[in-house]
Formats: sequence, structure tokens, C-alpha cells
Amino acid sequence: MLAKLDKLFSKFQSDLKSCSKIPDLLALKAQYVGKQGHLSEILRGLKNLNDTDKRVVGPKANEIREQIEKLSQSKIESLEIDEINEKLKGQWQDITLRNSIMDHGLTKSGLHPVTQIQREIEDIFISMGFDVLDGPHVEDEFHNFEALNIPGDHPARDMQDTFWFPDKKHLLRTHTSTIQVRGMQMKKPPFKFVGPGKVFRSERTDASHEMCFHQLEGMMVGKNITVGNLIYFMKTLLSEIFKRDVEVRLRPGFFPFVEPGFELDIKCLICAGKGCSVCKQVGWVELLPCGMVHPNVLKAGGIDINVWNGFAFGLGLDRLTMMKFGIDDVRHFHGGDLRFVSQFSAF
Ligand code: FA5
Repeated sequence: MLAKLDKLFSKFQSDLKSCSKIPDLLALKAQYVGKQGHLSEILRGLKNLNDTDKRVVGPKANEIREQIEKLSQSKIESLEIDEINEKLKGQWQDITLRNSIMDHGLTKSGLHPVTQIQREIEDIFISMGFDVLDGPHVEDEFHNFEALNIPGDHPARDMQDTFWFPDKKHLLRTHTSTIQVRGMQMKKPPFKFVGPGKVFRSERTDASHEMCFHQLEGMMVGKNITVGNLIYFMKTLLSEIFKRDVEVRLRPGFFPFVEPGFELDIKCLICAGKGCSVCKQVGWVELLPCGMVHPNVLKAGGIDINVWNGFAFGLGLDRLTMMKFGIDDVRHFHGGDLRFVSQFSAF
């Protein structure tokens, strides 16, 4: 019986050598040490041996089982490493900047596409007399919600899934509308400004939703400002950016900080309005919510509502960039893939 066990083990070793795929190897292992395997078959004969032989054959059989398991496991690990190396050969990146760029033929560098569009829009608004303001990413409840007519118990707080800090008082800003509040506190009317930047929401991501994305806020406060003024600036912005006619639609939209409020949608340029994952099969992409600033917001900003009024908008910069360049998934923007970003270096 001992000879049988030795023979079994050497046969296993030679079978193992010719195994080059993990599924084959698992099948081989089962053939030898599985319930119905060769080893169990030999061990079934153990009952016919006398006690002295049993004491020799039993431990030997266990030793062989352990060896087979150990050898199988280390071969599986080495095949897994081979598989990973094989995959990496196709996706290899040298993290030293020069080599990784050169080896992939990515010889150009430039600004991220969202930054490019952001700067282009800033220039458009500067040329129309707007200032460009900034605001902090970490905000307090007052600037993100209360001053925007969203008190603590208002259901509109649920419209934006928020990352709160443990003190429950600070948060990562959920929109650039915070810059409206800071702008009003800083400036005396009349004024007009835009405020671009990153915003953060605890979103489930998909082709048009990211957890960290970019908006560009706009606000104009003056005397007798109308919806007509608002539409004029929105149209100028879009025609300057797209440099061609794009179809837009204006529909009512609810935001506690504007009254009346609108949603300005753009006909999806990824699918020409036929329906795709970016526009969620509806043919239109929500791009530019806007409206006339709610009197409570002006009051919170210290502005006399008997004299002044205004409009505000909150442009989704990532979605606008997607429409401009025909990008079919917002998640590319933070994917860190040089092959993606290098395509925009020429613009
Ligand atoms: C707001 O954030 C309002 N503060 C906008 C506003 C400002 C309204 C001033 C009225 C007056 P909303 O949650 O819809 O609204 O976001 C504005 C835009 O940001 C959307 O139209 C969309 O283009 C973009 N956006 C929203 N959520 C995401 C997301 N998860 N990923 C990428 N873009 C997004």
C-alpha cells in the first residue's frame, strides 16, 4: 500500500507539471484528494490492514494529502500571478511621468477638460461685466442651507445627499449656491458675479452622476431685473460655448432659493435626443437650473428687497463639458486615465 501511495504521489507531480490553467488544476486536485479521488480510493483499503500497517500507512496517506494540497495551492498562486502579469502587460504604466506619457504616445499635456470649459465660461462672463468669486469647500449649515431659504426641517434638504462632518454643523458644500450667500455678504448692489468650483454629494454614481462634480453659480442683483434678463444671459452663454445652435427647453423647477424657478435642459448631444444612458433615455439633459432670487435669500444676504431684485443660476459644468466634447460618462473625469485626458490637450 505504501508503494501505491508513492506511485500516486509521483503521478500527481507529473500531472501537476502539465497543468497550466487554474480550472484544470482544481479538477486535478479533486481527482486526487477529493471525496471520490484516488487517495480516498486507496484509503478505503485501510480497513483490511492489520494495526501495525495501519499505523504506518495512515500517517503516510495524510502526509501525501497535505503535500498534494500544498503543491496545488502554490501552483494556483503562481498561475494567478502569471494571469495578473499577463493582464498588466497590456495595461502597463510606468509611474515616472516622462516614461508613462511617452510610452503611450501621450506626448501632449494640457488642462483637464472641465477646467478648460470652466475658464472659457469665466471669460465669457468677465466679458459681460461679471466678477469671478470663490468659496470654501467645507461650509457651514447657514451658507449651504439656511441663508438659501432651506431651514433645518425643510424637506428640500433631502434633495442633496450631504456629507456631514462629525460635529453635525459643517459639511462639504453640496452646491455652489453658497457663493451667492458669500457674494451678497461681500458686495453692495448692483452686482453680478459667477462662482465656479467643486461640489460634493453622497450620490450613487452613474453615467451622469458623480459624487464630486463641478458647478458654476451665477448671480445678478440690480433694479428691475426680469426673467428676460436671465434668459438672455443663459442663451449668450450656450451660443458662445457651443458655437452652434443647440436645442434647449425651459420648464418649471423647484428650488427654495428662487421664485419662480426653472430647469433649463439641453437636447442630449450624445444621442441627438434619441435616448441614451447620459440622458436616461429621455433625450434631454438637466444642465442649468435657474430662477429669480427668492426675497428671503436677498434678505439673508442683507439686501433691501424694496429696491433690489435679481436672478441666479447653477450650471452643471461636468454635464456641459460632456455635451461639448461628446463624452458619454461623467466618471471619466475623475478616472485618472491619461488616455482619456490627453485627448483634450489640443483644445
Ligand atoms: C442645484 O445645485 C442648485 N443649487 C442650482 C441653482 C442655482 C438653482 C441657482 C437655481 C438657482 P441641482 O441639484 O439641480 O441644483 O444641480 C445643478 C446642476 O448640477 C444639474 O443641473 C446638473 O447639471 C449638475 N449635477 C447635479 N447633480 C450632479 C451629479 N451628481 N453629477 C454631475 N452633475 C450633477
